[in-house]
Amino acid sequence: MSSQLFSPYRLRGLELPNRVVVSPMAQYSATAAGHATAWHHMHYGNLAVSGAGLLIFEAIAVEAAGRVSARCLGLWTDAQAESLRPVLEFCRQHGGAKLGVQLAHSGRKGSVQRPWEGQNSIGPDEEGWQVVSSCAEAYPGRATPHALSLAEMQALKAGYVAAARRADAIGFDLIELHAAHGYLLNCFLTPLANRRNDAYGGDLAGRMRYPLEVFAAIRAAWPAHKPLGVRISATDWKEGGWTGADSVAFAQALKAAGCDYVGASSGGVAADQQIVLGPGYQVPYAAQVQREAGMPAMAVGMINEPEHAEAIVRNGEAEMVALGRGMTWNPRWAWHAADALGAKAAFPPQYARSHSSMRYGDPAKPR
Ligand SMILES: Cc1cc2nc3c(=O)[nH]c(=O)nc-3n(C[C@H](O)[C@H](O)[C@H](O)COP(=O)(O)O)c2cc1C
Repeated sequence: MSSQLFSPYRLRGLELPNRVVVSPMAQYSATAAGHATAWHHMHYGNLAVSGAGLLIFEAIAVEAAGRVSARCLGLWTDAQAESLRPVLEFCRQHGGAKLGVQLAHSGRKGSVQRPWEGQNSIGPDEEGWQVVSSCAEAYPGRATPHALSLAEMQALKAGYVAAARRADAIGFDLIELHAAHGYLLNCFLTPLANRRNDAYGGDLAGRMRYPLEVFAAIRAAWPAHKPLGVRISATDWKEGGWTGADSVAFAQALKAAGCDYVGASSGGVAADQQIVLGPGYQVPYAAQVQREAGMPAMAVGMINEPEHAEAIVRNGEAEMVALGRGMTWNPRWAWHAADALGAKAAFPPQYARSHSSMRYGDPAKPR
């Protein structure tokens, strides 16, 4: 039986050569101005030739206050976009992966040190900034955010749109809007972090309103042939928080707005979340969204075995399977998975003699 994981998948005008996705992973390796560095050339160049069908670049901030750390990438200036252009050019010239970007705003979880420095809050007197959120409630242990006013929300929406236009100008194929992990849009969605008493808070419809407005604004500016997806935290893993049923309702609203897929991640809102980890622990949420909302889903989270990824697609739980840590641990994952599943994945000619089929040499060619 031929592999479903390695079958092509179409999103609008974009044909992915297979359904293996490199999940967005923040590298905290930009300059202080939010520009790409040699690290990004190495990191993304390597992953672009990995055989994956889609490579989603890390969370890239739509404004300075939307970074997580002071070394996160930005797309709020043209110069930032230009710093990424050669990275994309390399990926496109040598890699088989289509290129996505995650547009993000860290909200109340921003202005922290890099993970390997301790991830503690840093104030505006150091390299940090005043964090913002849906309301003035802090993430435990972090700085108290400024609650965004209606005018500030409008300005920020324009920031998302400007970032999307820059992403188009430098050739990204796909945008993923980051609405997960306790970052800004997630803090509008979840009742655990949204205490607004205007039209953007309260019931589910009110809490979804701003993320849906941002989505619609990006959709209107992003070329019609290019796909736009959304990553959500499908559950808060906490009593009284966001649920799988809420995710279905959000996915239905996104579908009506022209969304092409929903990525089912989870958690990140509550410090005391009761998360249950294990292989494929978020897959049931992807399956629920796909089944109940009719929205193509991207599964992610501790999916490390080729047969597991294959089964997720084959069973109709998700159309695409993303790997994060498994990809940096083994950037050749897709090559090996293709081999294991009897399929083929893009392989750069420079490495052709390393392919398992060529180990004993190509009998047709002289050594
Ligand atoms: C170093 C690192 C950075 C990450 N940065 C992001 C990010 O920028 N955006 C995002 O949505 N998820 C981010 N994640 C989460 C991953 O995309 C992925 O969802 C998570 O690691 C679970 O998948 P895995 O078990 O395959 O690693 C990050 C994870 C890691 C390990």
